[in-house]
Amino acid sequence: MSAAENTNPLSVGLSEPVLPQPCTLVIFGGAGDLSGRKLLPAIFNLGLDGVLPANFAVLGFSIEEMDDAEYRGFARRGVERFSRQQPDEENWPNYERQLFYQSGSFDDPAAYEALKQRLDEIEPQFGIPGNRIFYLAIPPRLIGVCAQQLKAAGLVQDETSGGPFSRIIVEKPIGRDLQSAQEVNEILGECFAEPQIYRIDHYLGKETVQNILVMRFGNAIFEPLWNAKHIDHVQITVAEDEGVGTRAGYYDRAGALRDMVQNHILQLLSLVAMEPPWTMDADVIRDHRLDVLHCLRPLNIENIESDVVRAQYAHGFFQGDDVPGYRREEDVASDSSTETYVALRVFIDNWRWAGVPFYIRTGKRLPKRVSEIAVQFKDVPHILFNSDNDHPLDPNVLALRLQPDEGMSLRIATKMPGSRVQIYPVKMDFRYGSTFGDQSPEAYERLLLDVMTGDATLFMRRDAVEASWRWIQPLLDAWDRGNKRWLPEYPSSTWGPVEAERLIENDGRRWRVL
Ligand code: BG6
Repeated sequence: MSAAENTNPLSVGLSEPVLPQPCTLVIFGGAGDLSGRKLLPAIFNLGLDGVLPANFAVLGFSIEEMDDAEYRGFARRGVERFSRQQPDEENWPNYERQLFYQSGSFDDPAAYEALKQRLDEIEPQFGIPGNRIFYLAIPPRLIGVCAQQLKAAGLVQDETSGGPFSRIIVEKPIGRDLQSAQEVNEILGECFAEPQIYRIDHYLGKETVQNILVMRFGNAIFEPLWNAKHIDHVQITVAEDEGVGTRAGYYDRAGALRDMVQNHILQLLSLVAMEPPWTMDADVIRDHRLDVLHCLRPLNIENIESDVVRAQYAHGFFQGDDVPGYRREEDVASDSSTETYVALRVFIDNWRWAGVPFYIRTGKRLPKRVSEIAVQFKDVPHILFNSDNDHPLDPNVLALRLQPDEGMSLRIATKMPGSRVQIYPVKMDFRYGSTFGDQSPEAYERLLLDVMTGDATLFMRRDAVEASWRWIQPLLDAWDRGNKRWLPEYPSSTWGPVEAERLIENDGRRWRVL
C-alpha cells in the first residue's frame, strides 16, 4: 500500500488544524530523567517541524543547582541521545535560546515566588501573554504539594475569566489504588478546574493507537463486523523484553497490573470496544471510552485463576547474557511478591460485546518488545473448505501492531496455485514505515502540542482514572489478602508462566505467536 494511492490526500483532514497558543512550558523535574529523555527532545522536534507557537519558552524547575547555560547543555545531551531528529549548528541555537532554568524546592513557597518572578521576566522577551503550562514530571507523591503551592502562589489563573490560561499536566500513576487516586484527584480539583488538568497516558499519544479510531470509523468494512456476532475474541499484548532496570523503587510497589493494565491497556481496550462517537469533541470521545470501563464485568475473585494469572520473572538470558531474576534486581526485596507479568480474561457486558472474551497479557522480560491488538473473527462454517475437523482453516485475524514495526495486517484464507484446492493463510500487510517513510512523531510530541491547543481528547479525565481503579480494586484486595500465596515464575525471555497458557487454553483458544 502506498500513500500516493490516495488521489486526494487533502480531503482526509478532520477539520482546520487548531493552532497552539503562545505559552511558557514550566517543567517541574526539568532536570530529571523524563525531561531529558522525552520532553526536551519532543519540544526540539516540534520546533524543527515548525508547529510550536511562535511565542514560546521553556522553564525547567528542579532542586538541582544549574544555570541556564548548564540546562541548555543538559537539554543538548538529551536531544543528541534520544531525539528522532538531530541537533546541528543551525537548528540548535534557535531551540536553546528558549530554554531557561530555575532551581528550587517543590515545597518551598519562596521557590514559587522566585518562579513567578522568573516567568514575569521571560514572558515579555518572547511576547508570551502569561499562558502557562505546568508539567509535573516528578514522583507522584509530590503532585499534591506542587498543585497546592502553585495555587497558593497565585500561579493558577481562572480560565473562565477570559485571561491567560494555566494548565497542569500530570503523569501516571495517579494513586496506587482507588482511594489514593481519589485523594490526588481531590487535591488537583481544589487547585485547578477539571478542564485545566491534563492527565497523560502516553499510549494515547502513539500514532498507532490514534489510528484505532480512524481504522474503525474511517472505513466501511470493519464496523459492521465489529461485534459479538462476528468476533470470536480479542487479544491485547503489551510485551517488553527489558527487566525492571533502575526503576525498582517505583515498580516494586506497583507491579504490572498497576503499571500497565490500570492505565495503558484499559485505554487500548476502551478504544477497541467503544461505541461510535457522533463528534470528535474531547468529552464525547472520553464519555464513550468511559462507558466501556463501566461495562467491564467484575473479575471472578472467588475463582481468580479462571480470570487472572500473575507471575514474576526468574533468572534467564537476555540477548545472550545471563540476567538475574526479579528478586535479585537492584532495590527489589528478596522476598518481593510483585508481579512482573499479568494475564487477564475480561468481558464487556454490553450488547455489542456480550460473551466475547478479551485476553490481555503484559509483562517484563518477555522474549521481545512487541505490542499488538489482535481481533480474531469467528470460524467459517465447518462445511466446504472448512469441513476437515483435523485441519480446520485458520480464522481471519486483524492485527493492529502498535510497536515496533507499526502497522496492521489481515489474515485471510487463499487458494494456493495448483490443480488441487489447497488453502493457505496469507497476510495483507500495511506498514507505516514503508507507506509514510518518515519516523512518526513521538507520543509526547503530539500530547504536548494538544495541551498547547487545549485539546484534551487524548488525556484521562478524572472519572476514567477512578473507574479503572474501581474495577481493579477487588483484585488488588484479593492479592493483598493472599499475599503469601505462591507466585508463579517464568524464566526471563519466555512468554510467561504455564498458568497463562491454561487461562486461554481452558477456553479452547491460544495466545498468538508473536
Ligand atoms: C510506562 C511504564 O508507563 O510504560 C513502564 O511505567 C513501561 O514500566 C512503559 O516500560 C512502556 O512504554 P512504551 O512506550 O515503551 O511501550
